[in-house]
Amino acid sequence: MGKAAPAFPFFVSGFDTLMKNELGKRLSAIVTEATTAIAEASATSDLEKIRVDLLGRQGSLTALLKSVGTLPEAKRRSFGLAVNEAKDSVNGQLEQRRVALATSQRAAAVEQEVIDVTLPGRSTGQGSVHPITRSRRRIEEIFTRIGFNVVHGPEIEDDFHNFEALNIPPDHPARAMHDTFYLSPGIVLRTHTSPVQIRYMETQDPPLQVIAPGRVYRCDSDVTHTPMFHQVEGLAVDTDISFADLKGVLTFFIREFFEQDLPVRFRPSYFPFTEPSAEVDIGCVFCKGGGCRVCQQSGWLEILGCGMVHPEVFRHVGIDNDQYTGYAFGLGIERLTMLRYGVDDLRLFFDNEIAFLRQFS
Ligand code: DAH
Repeated sequence: MGKAAPAFPFFVSGFDTLMKNELGKRLSAIVTEATTAIAEASATSDLEKIRVDLLGRQGSLTALLKSVGTLPEAKRRSFGLAVNEAKDSVNGQLEQRRVALATSQRAAAVEQEVIDVTLPGRSTGQGSVHPITRSRRRIEEIFTRIGFNVVHGPEIEDDFHNFEALNIPPDHPARAMHDTFYLSPGIVLRTHTSPVQIRYMETQDPPLQVIAPGRVYRCDSDVTHTPMFHQVEGLAVDTDISFADLKGVLTFFIREFFEQDLPVRFRPSYFPFTEPSAEVDIGCVFCKGGGCRVCQQSGWLEILGCGMVHPEVFRHVGIDNDQYTGYAFGLGIERLTMLRYGVDDLRLFFDNEIAFLRQFS
């Protein structure tokens, strides 16, 4: 890079007289020196130092500018102009040199840089959706496709919604089966998602077609039970809902969820809030019905409970059972997920081992 031509933009009127005095000579010397220094600067930090030396608070040009006030009236204007022009000139040169240095530095960096396009890329370490969440979304997707809405209810429930309105009065043996966590008398952590049926029917008029996924709690913990797990409740109420509708919807759901044409059977059972009630079995996904350890040689796996909404339940929420009928069902997400993905230990869902979870990404 050639040296920038010394600039003396302060050749203004009266320069001759100025040059004859001390201040004029100093100004000229400062600019000449600065021009050389700027041209020789090899780093932007050098430029900054030059700028501070000239234009900083203690800078030499700053000092000259301050001295303008001490001049006789007649010389003030022309000398002030000359110093300001010198200042502009120095600033201009500094900026020019800064741009030139930056450009050549970038060019040098590009020259030096070697990109090995054969190196493996850096991995971004992406997380994955938990298998239970994945299943829940899948279940929601299947049911919303056939007209169900997804609704939610509170995890802290009162006795009325968790039990009473579901036809489970205080002395009912079903209460003992629920291993309830009590927060205070009459207030529980919901033991199932069935209370969402009650809450929904209390506020909405039929026709209704909803599922309610969520966490449920039971005071139970061993190899096949965790104190918190997930259920999905289903409810449909309309003027002429029959058990055939229930069978059709659940059979459709099961085949969509497992992506297989599995055998499905409805086995009579008992739940206080449905009549008649049934449990649904699918042909064992592990042995294809031949009999194995998982299905205890029966060839069948129980996957959910269901039935026609009990008249007592309708009475509690003020729905006329002469006009409306309905069906309900409840399923455990953990159980369905284990069967679909062949997970043999419930605890894997709660340990959050990366190696396990990664398999679902
Ligand atoms: N609430 C039941 C449970 O937690 C599951 C259930 C069974 C829900 C039958 C229903 C149903 O809606 O009709 O064991």
